[in-house]
Amino acid sequence: MMNSIKQIIDNKLLGPQTICGWVRSVRKKKKFSFVVVNDGSCQDNLQVILDLGIPGYEEVSSALIGSSIQVSGELVESQGKGQNLELIGKECKLLGESDETYPLQKKGTSLEFIRENAHLRSRTNLFGAIFRVRNELAKATHDFFYNSGFYYVNTPIITAIDAEGAGEMFNVSTLNPLSTPKTESGEVDFSKDYFGKSTSLTVSGQLNAECMALGLGKVYTFGPTFRSEKSFTSRHLSEFWMVEPEAAFMDLDQIADLGADYIKYLISRALINCSKELAFLQSREEVDNDLLVRLNGVANGDFQKITYTQAVNILLESGEKFEFPVEWGSELQTEHERFLTEVHFKAPLIVTDYPKDCKAFYMKLNDDGKTVRAMDILVPGVGEIVGGSQREESLIKLKDRMSEMDMDKNQLKWYLDLRKYGSVVHSGFGLGFERAVMYITGMKNIRDVIPFPRATGSAEF
Ligand code: 4AD
Ligand code: MG
Repeated sequence: MMNSIKQIIDNKLLGPQTICGWVRSVRKKKKFSFVVVNDGSCQDNLQVILDLGIPGYEEVSSALIGSSIQVSGELVESQGKGQNLELIGKECKLLGESDETYPLQKKGTSLEFIRENAHLRSRTNLFGAIFRVRNELAKATHDFFYNSGFYYVNTPIITAIDAEGAGEMFNVSTLNPLSTPKTESGEVDFSKDYFGKSTSLTVSGQLNAECMALGLGKVYTFGPTFRSEKSFTSRHLSEFWMVEPEAAFMDLDQIADLGADYIKYLISRALINCSKELAFLQSREEVDNDLLVRLNGVANGDFQKITYTQAVNILLESGEKFEFPVEWGSELQTEHERFLTEVHFKAPLIVTDYPKDCKAFYMKLNDDGKTVRAMDILVPGVGEIVGGSQREESLIKLKDRMSEMDMDKNQLKWYLDLRKYGSVVHSGFGLGFERAVMYITGMKNIRDVIPFPRATGSAEF
């Protein structure tokens, strides 16, 4: 198999080599041409020198930016400045030509413009870097959980359950929208639908992961999740990937520590295996120029931990003017979260024990009867990156809470069974994978860290 430019550079494979890639620039001289090629395998380009007259010279030396070429020749140490290795071409071939309309020309292309050309953006230095970091973080996720004794499980994407109870689901139906069958009371009769009931795309694999954890011990899911919340923020997608570990016999503190260790591991893997990507990202104007210092600090530092009640007190005593009032019992808004992690602690922060009315039905009730064993992990620049909890393991308390919230217990009979047959303390969390990629690449808009973003009003490509 042909070597990638990454393999050639990493291993300094001097001697005969053949490479394929896309033309980044061509400088044509009288007797030879310099062609800069990138094949996407790494941040580095390879400079190719083609002498007038070698096979394929005319076509390749006239190739426009974006064309694809193949070059065979000799890899040597470079005499010139700016690169260490170069390929002296012996023969070359134009694989696919490009033309002047190629959108990604050298000169300043805004993020918005590149986003509109998402089908080509993997060819840019910026998005190449982001997507290689994303790949590393996905692999690191599997390695972290595998090495920690967690089993990878897959939970359904089509579901009849709103795990978070937030009513933000996309319906899945094969009924004809122009003539839906109706019940006697005039509602859509989903018993006539494909699954014989109303179904949606999942908002979280958690409830199924709990079933798996209460048999396999420690499991995690890593899959797409869908939310139809109408958000136009830079942190929300309608389709995003979530990593959800769930562990039997673990309590809130243990799962919070696991979350912090996991985030630190992600960062350290990116620092080790994507050092060129991170250095490049830091050099870009889109990214703060202290990215590497910050990542190193987090990878080697401790996460702070406070309760929701302490967080509210810090916010109240801060003297800061917030748009949304700070009041015990209300959700922490993004501005509050960001104040805590960016201004007050200047570090990642774990907030625990939220009021029960701010959180989902399955969280373990504290003895005070008012708060639940929830935890969110907040990081500077992004805000909430992880949401998790210790789960209510008492059948009676869980049923009471479901009644309080007017939930249908029949629909979740199987979930209640977990508390009926050998119930145990168990906990889990969900990490928004794109939020993690944002945090580690330093990119400020979540749409730039997933190849083809889906967000309110936008499902291009
Ligand atoms: O806090 P959330 O809603 O928690 C759950 O879904 C739990 N069932 C997870 C669990 O305990 N197994 O979502 C978890 C994380 C958030 O912290 C956030 O990082 C991310 O998922 N997230 C989103 N990311 C991008 N776009 C959205 N619309 C998101 N909504 C949540
Ligand atoms: Mg949350």
